[in-house]
Amino acid sequence: MKSKIKNICCIGAGYVGGPTMSVIADKCKHIKVNVVDVNMKRVNLWNSSDLDNLPIYEPGLKEIVKRRRGKNLFFSSDLEKNISCADMIFISVNTPTKVRGEGAGMASDLKWVEASARKVAEFAKGHTIVVEKSTLPVRTANVIKEILEAAQSSFSLTKTQATFNVLSNPEFLAEGSAIKDLEKPERVLIGGENQNAIHALNDIYKNWVPQEKILHTNIWSSELAKLTANAFLAQRISSINSIGALCETTGADVREVARAIGSDSRIGSKFLDSGPGFGGSCFKKDILNLVYLSNYFGLKEVARFWEGVVELNTWHQKRISRLVVRKLFGTVRGKKIGILGFSFKANTNDTRESSAISICKDLLEEGAFLHIHDPRVELNQIELDLNLKQYCSANKTEINNQNLEEGVWVFSKFIKEIFEAADAVLILTEWHEYSLINWKSISPKMRKPSWIFDARSVINPKDLEGTDLNLWRIGDGSLIN
Ligand code: NAD
Ligand code: UGA
Repeated sequence: MKSKIKNICCIGAGYVGGPTMSVIADKCKHIKVNVVDVNMKRVNLWNSSDLDNLPIYEPGLKEIVKRRRGKNLFFSSDLEKNISCADMIFISVNTPTKVRGEGAGMASDLKWVEASARKVAEFAKGHTIVVEKSTLPVRTANVIKEILEAAQSSFSLTKTQATFNVLSNPEFLAEGSAIKDLEKPERVLIGGENQNAIHALNDIYKNWVPQEKILHTNIWSSELAKLTANAFLAQRISSINSIGALCETTGADVREVARAIGSDSRIGSKFLDSGPGFGGSCFKKDILNLVYLSNYFGLKEVARFWEGVVELNTWHQKRISRLVVRKLFGTVRGKKIGILGFSFKANTNDTRESSAISICKDLLEEGAFLHIHDPRVELNQIELDLNLKQYCSANKTEINNQNLEEGVWVFSKFIKEIFEAADAVLILTEWHEYSLINWKSISPKMRKPSWIFDARSVINPKDLEGTDLNLWRIGDGSLIN
């Protein structure tokens, strides 16, 4: 018999849990959706009356939260109450790379998933479908099942026996386009064994996703497909960035090469933008997880193949910071460098694994004076990422007089502050407003010789004609000098 879901609980109100549950609540007004999180600060921000204070910036998100919050969408930290009344529970907690112990630096740390499963085991009542929404190593469903089954037997004397089915339903949204991706997904993947549970989840998505886009697989294929999708996407970026480096030394242009190869439908035109290297919380961690799993199962060659994708990315980020130093006569000590963009891509305030972090750290290590601008990232986030407090003065003379061994940085709320007496500007995120900069009016403000390093191809080189700015563009061999 099919079960009709009336009450959903999602554990984890992060970049996935928050937007995903908002869209489910919006599309399924007959279902009550409770999103719970142990982070009280985050929950309070989800509940803030000023919708510009939501903890996550995603185009279209605040409009949905405005429509559904307090009606069938609720954010709280009450796990017990919301787990106990749920027919279906999504686990959408963080799964970062382990930092210590066996598999450190490679394997996913499942401590938050395990903690969630234990809470479900403790508080769930009646029959409950548990859905893995987090990205997990293949065969994690067994861990969750074991925890639920073990708890079932130990709690059975003290409370009504709960029963469970476990499904895998990985999320494929990309940040910055999360709402669009959730409202019009290219596919929804459901992995599992129990047909009633699969149909119950299928029925939720069917409220807005055409049935032919909802794929059913076995649970292990579903878990592995998620890691594989991210690995393939990241591999394309490392591939195009490797060719970009070759373009710069041979006179070719990576945009032209990408267009030429992307016209072949077997290759496809998407995800071929050369940039400062992939960032974001998932690509690196998911590939490292794949590497760990491959090694674990004795597949050394498979592990080495995927490890190369991450190695190329790290090398590429270093290549950019070294190149900036080289072009500025081998030293950036005390030189003002404007950094345009700190988030790992446009349209998000997320900085996790952003290439800007490693590039800025390298330049600070070389003694540079950085003016960092980002339209969405907050100053205190940059402080955390760089592990360095903002310098309190923006006075360049003072900086030079300090004879700095290590660089300093300041946050610029306004783009125009970036250019005054700057030796260089480095574009690291493709925010739309950076493509609108009038370089002709900027040019006289900068110290000569001045460089613009465009790692995101946001500048049309024609816009610099008639200025005395030197331009470096990612993968552009026509600019060899
Ligand atoms: P996140 O860090 O933004 O959010 C996770 C939330 O879970 C945090 O707010 C944390 O406080 C909460 N949490 C952790 N343990 C908890 C517990 N025991 N009880 C209650 N709350 C708990 O992470 P995210 O970016 O939303 O990613 C979540 C998962 O989704 C990861 O596995 C990630 O790989 C995957 N994923 C992420 C994206 C993305 O774009 N960020 C896309 C697809 C898949
Ligand atoms: C990625 C995947 O695209 C999602 O499908 C997946 O759900 C998600 O990871 C996840 O599992 O977390 P996301 O990291 O949000 O989404 O963003 P992407 O658009 O994939 O960009 C990742 C990084 O690659 C960014 O730094 C971006 O600037 C870079 N990128 C992307 C390029 O350098 N070139 C491109 O052509 C595309």
